[in-house]
Amino acid sequence: MTTVIDGKQVAASVIDAVKTASQALKDQTGVKTGLAVVIVGDDPASHAYVSAKSRMAKECGFTSVQHTLPEETTQEELAALVQTLNRDDNLHGILVQLPLPKHLNSEPIIQSILPEKDVDGLHVVNAGRLATGDLDGGLVSCTPAGAMVFVKRTHGADLSGLNAVVIGRSNLFGKPMAQLLLAANATVTIAHSRTKDLAAVCRNADILVAAVGRPEMVKAGWVKPGATVIDVGINRIAAPERGEGKSRLVGDVAFDECAEVAAVITPVPGGVGPMTIAMLMANTVIAAYRKAGKTAPKF
Ligand SMILES: NC(=O)c1ccc[n+]([C@@H]2O[C@H](COP(=O)([O-])OP(=O)(O)OC[C@H]3O[C@@H](n4cnc5c(N)ncnc54)[C@H](OP(=O)(O)O)[C@@H]3O)[C@@H](O)[C@H]2O)c1
Repeated sequence: MTTVIDGKQVAASVIDAVKTASQALKDQTGVKTGLAVVIVGDDPASHAYVSAKSRMAKECGFTSVQHTLPEETTQEELAALVQTLNRDDNLHGILVQLPLPKHLNSEPIIQSILPEKDVDGLHVVNAGRLATGDLDGGLVSCTPAGAMVFVKRTHGADLSGLNAVVIGRSNLFGKPMAQLLLAANATVTIAHSRTKDLAAVCRNADILVAAVGRPEMVKAGWVKPGATVIDVGINRIAAPERGEGKSRLVGDVAFDECAEVAAVITPVPGGVGPMTIAMLMANTVIAAYRKAGKTAPKF
């Protein structure tokens, strides 16, 4: 019997733990966890993500601050706002929603966020801590951190002897995911667009993680029988069967056929997706504990 991971349910359990942790911090120290979310411009998808993040922060009992800046905001104005948020002791996490409008350069903005407030885990200091195996000192990028919760709930914290294959080598997902798996003692292969015979590489995986952005690329024949398959891809494809002009979301894994081979698999939507926001909340409360000099909870 294949287990289909319910990402909404796992995310809800993480959110419950975050609520408990933020309340405990407040009771013990009087510190209320604070998250600032910054959005520039009018992209509707980004506005939807930011509203969801601000709403969830409030639900977790955080101080939630949202800065909505107009499309014509300059690099200097955005940089100045980040500096103000860096200095605000009531804010433990700062998130600048990406992508920024084309005239703005996101990299210096992200790198100007204090690493201890970089709850997206994109600062080079946080990437470096993860790369050196320091999982307790930095903040880990939210989507790989969320995918890793699935892996640990399936296989436990020690992946010794297991082969893991991550398809995709982005800084946002592939590299940090591979490092998390390595830190948990898996034997890790990172595959990408230049990998030869990708199907054969994947068939070696006890844990197969796909983060490519190609609809249903991973086929049943790529999956080792009994493997755990984590699908990170989010692809919108035409769905004429639902009516003219309709579309639907699919992952990078051909779900139905791979579910017949895998032991554990995540769906799209409803798998990794809901975990990203949950881990953002987890990172924010972790940052607040550290700032208060307390041992941060683990999620
Ligand atoms: N919240 C979430 O659930 C969440 C968060 C982040 C990302 N995602 C989704 O995850 C997917 C990947 O995101 P990303 O930011 O990592 O994307 P990305 O930066 O575009 O990276 C894609 C990776 O896939 C590799 N690739 C492309 N075509 C390939 C092929 N034919 N065979 C093997 N590898 C191939 C690329 O290889 P090269 O490096 O060689 O070009 C690259 O490393 C997207 O669908 C995105 O929407 C979801």
